[in-house]
Amino acid sequence: MCGIIGCVAEEPVAALLLDGLVRVEYRGYDSAGMATISRGKLGVKKGVGRVKDIEEARKMSAMSGTVGMAHTRWATHGGVTNANAHPHASCKEQVAVIHNGIIENYIPLKKALIAKGHRFKSETDTEVISHIVEDEYKRTKNPLRATQAAVKKLKGQYAIVVMFQDRPDVMTGARKDAPLIVGVGKGKMFLASDVLAFIGHTDRTIFLDNYEVVQITKEEVKIIGPDGREVRRDPNQVAWELSDVTKSDYAHYTLKEINEQPKTIVAASVQDPYKVAEFARAIKRAKSLFITASGTSYHAGLLMKFRLSKEARIRADVVVAGELKEHTEFLGKGSVVVALSQSGETADVMEAVREAKKHGAKAYSIVNAAGSSLARESDVTLLLNCGPEVGVAATKSFTAQVVVANLVVDAVLGKKKPDRLEELSEAVADALKCDGQVQELVREYRDRPDFYFVARGYESPVAMEGALKLKELSYIHAEGMPASELKHGTLALIEKGTPVVFINPSGPNHAESLSNAEELSARGADVIGISDVRDQVYKHYIQIPKVSPKSTPIVEAIPLQLLAYRMSVAKRNDPDYPRNLAKSVTVK
Ligand code: F6R
Repeated sequence: MCGIIGCVAEEPVAALLLDGLVRVEYRGYDSAGMATISRGKLGVKKGVGRVKDIEEARKMSAMSGTVGMAHTRWATHGGVTNANAHPHASCKEQVAVIHNGIIENYIPLKKALIAKGHRFKSETDTEVISHIVEDEYKRTKNPLRATQAAVKKLKGQYAIVVMFQDRPDVMTGARKDAPLIVGVGKGKMFLASDVLAFIGHTDRTIFLDNYEVVQITKEEVKIIGPDGREVRRDPNQVAWELSDVTKSDYAHYTLKEINEQPKTIVAASVQDPYKVAEFARAIKRAKSLFITASGTSYHAGLLMKFRLSKEARIRADVVVAGELKEHTEFLGKGSVVVALSQSGETADVMEAVREAKKHGAKAYSIVNAAGSSLARESDVTLLLNCGPEVGVAATKSFTAQVVVANLVVDAVLGKKKPDRLEELSEAVADALKCDGQVQELVREYRDRPDFYFVARGYESPVAMEGALKLKELSYIHAEGMPASELKHGTLALIEKGTPVVFINPSGPNHAESLSNAEELSARGADVIGISDVRDQVYKHYIQIPKVSPKSTPIVEAIPLQLLAYRMSVAKRNDPDYPRNLAKSVTVK
């Protein structure tokens, strides 16, 4: 989950490392650090907090040296302290390492290293790597071979970047189940966890595969495969649009990304029809069909399942990615697993897909990040095309997932006529106009400890999504559930003034849902209706435009995203960087 960037260049690297660091900060933001080698000496600066708040960060930009690495941390092993922030240097400060992942066998490794006389300065799992590399470097006198030998001792997941004090001309890296990407520039070479880290300098990238080890100089890249042989791989060009990761005139990325949705849902609908047809064919022929994802993407997966069963009469099991390994009985040759993920790097999703493939299943994915592990390991991938999503909360990627999932289901149904996306885009733009009303709701309910989100049928995952958004951005306890479940427990929690967001578009479930809204209101709840039709039971009413039933979740998501965002701002949280979370959950 951490953000990593390293660079070897002709010129001083500190300023570009700091710039890259801010761009990958969404991956983790507990603490940050940087190391460079200058005049034969390794220098390390680190601090706790966001890069903008770290006192030492101001000094980082002045660090000299043409080789350097930087890291933003999302703590796993060891608290959020200066000592635990990366980079981690070895005993003699000859080697420095940054790492994203978890070293599962670090305790026995640490014990063995201490027995050999190594002294540890942190509580992290990462620090063992620098000590092991130091030993291997002493033995091999070769940075690449030392890195190769060191990673053979590691169990778990890692993307690492290593610097050697007496070799300022090189930097090495290695990966297993965590992303590491080479950026091939002119007179500068990068290693990073994300293209965004270096996209301002080059759009030429090489994605490393699991168990590969790499060495870069300012001009050369050398990749060694798991069999010890050199791997030749040409750089790919990634979209320059990725470099547009500014907030423009918006106060936060999250608000910008919410407002981009009239455009991003159109971009998501532009797909290669042959690929969509292949996706649909696989679903139709599947002996067993699983849909898997985490968090918000899981909610999009639930929507997809609903349409597949109700409209196409195809049975799909939707399983939270981290649990798929418990459901392998029906996975085998002829099975299909559909994985949804914004980042394409979520560890649980990757593990689920690999497990399914191990059982003989084919993997079909819907992903935003082209070149991500999921995109590369899937048999067929449809991209969301909604541009980089920097805000930790998934917003535009959710609505893009609904669009792409709908395209696939439509293809399964043999629907030929394309949707009128301009109309949907206008409807989303209309839905965004509720921002003022949402701010009034926030003023009224900002001090309430609990929120409930309810809906029926196809809209139920939208209720769950509304609750997830509110929890993660505002830190208010929230639950989302089907309206039918209310009387099986939750009604006991309803008091005078408890806010209940009721998602209830016109359609077959509308009347029944209104009865549930009455029941809530009779028990004192303040029912906030989100619907295309007003009703007197709603204390507050947010009108959403009428669109086709399959696209209704897209317009319903808008007020829910705005509610979470505005609540976060009202509570003086940082909506882009909610506490304890990270955008790309690359640890299990
Ligand atoms: C919620 C959120 C997370 C992600 C989840 C999966 O706003 O952002 O719940 O949806 O971590 O991430 P991806 O889609 O990258 O696999």
